[in-house]
Amino acid sequence: MLILGIETSCAETSAAVVAGTGNAVTQRSLVILSQDVHRVFGGVVPEIASRAHVTAIVPVVRQALADASTTLDDIDVVAVTNAPGLVGALLVGVSYAKGLALGAGKSLIGVHHMEGHLFAQSLEYADAVPPFTALLVSGGHTLLVDVTAWGEYRVLGATRDDAAGEAFDKVAKLLGLPYPGGRHIERLARDGDPGRFRFARPMLRRNQKPGDEDFYDVSFSGLKTAVLLAVRESTDLERDAPHLARGFQDSLVETLVEKVYRAAEQHDRRRVVLGGGVACNQALVVAMKKRLAEAGAEVYAPSVRLATDNAAMIARAGLFHAERGERDGWELNAFASRVLGRG
Ligand code: KG4
Ligand code: ZN
Repeated sequence: MLILGIETSCAETSAAVVAGTGNAVTQRSLVILSQDVHRVFGGVVPEIASRAHVTAIVPVVRQALADASTTLDDIDVVAVTNAPGLVGALLVGVSYAKGLALGAGKSLIGVHHMEGHLFAQSLEYADAVPPFTALLVSGGHTLLVDVTAWGEYRVLGATRDDAAGEAFDKVAKLLGLPYPGGRHIERLARDGDPGRFRFARPMLRRNQKPGDEDFYDVSFSGLKTAVLLAVRESTDLERDAPHLARGFQDSLVETLVEKVYRAAEQHDRRRVVLGGGVACNQALVVAMKKRLAEAGAEVYAPSVRLATDNAAMIARAGLFHAERGERDGWELNAFASRVLGRG
């Protein structure tokens, strides 16, 4: 099957073509246009995002088809992210995908954005296939998922408040760093002394047991407040900033690593798949690999292009559903939030 994927859920206008069958799927092209403009505002401005998608969508899709040396005629199904995300932004992709499919006589399939993230690594690593434990950490989501098979997802834990990427971005702001702040914190933390600021590990207690409500969940707003208080108390923020960044990152990383370790151990998984922008963080990836090796598990971390929002993962997830004969009607709509999966 040849699938055209379209992704416009947040601040990336992206299109891609993937081809194949079963788990033998290859990425034929991937175009990502990142909307840099949001840096000026320190966060994604929904209307600006939607308008930028409207401007970019036609050339981005054309380029993806051209890079794959194909045309719309050869495409079997158009797969488009229809949830979750910014509704105005999603609607651009959904409406465009509908017009394209309707005009070319193709069928259409809506894809859950987070399901796309689960598929991203399989485009790079042949072994990154179920069963696995997945940690999806982005600016909007923090999800711990047990994946028994493609299409069968059990959300084990989530954040109770801020997403991991959101925590990075907020702490970056406190330290006077640009938006989005994750990679700036990571860079600054390299020069930080891990012993200067030790913040509590949120929702991580030794006596937690499987079945406890907070066994898998995370929470980062208390950690952010702890950093805020330390920033206020600092007499020399320039001197302390690397140490604060390090203390914050260590706390967040250790928390996520331990929750993933628990999930893999409890479900006897030998593979762990990371996804979302925060999965670009090398401190997280290195710590995860080290700890999960103790459980005999392999950790798959995607490259930057496939970790962040992209249409290749949407096309890949769309291919899985399309091969099962699933399709959506012309009434397909966009939703700000939706449980993981289809339907
Ligand atoms: O998945 P993504 O590109 O977009 C969505 O939010 O869906 O994730 C963006 C998030 C931002 O919060 C950004 O600060 C964070 O990923 N991020 C990082 C790193 N690179 C990006 N966080 C920590 N370390 C990084 N190296
Ligand atoms: Zn995402």
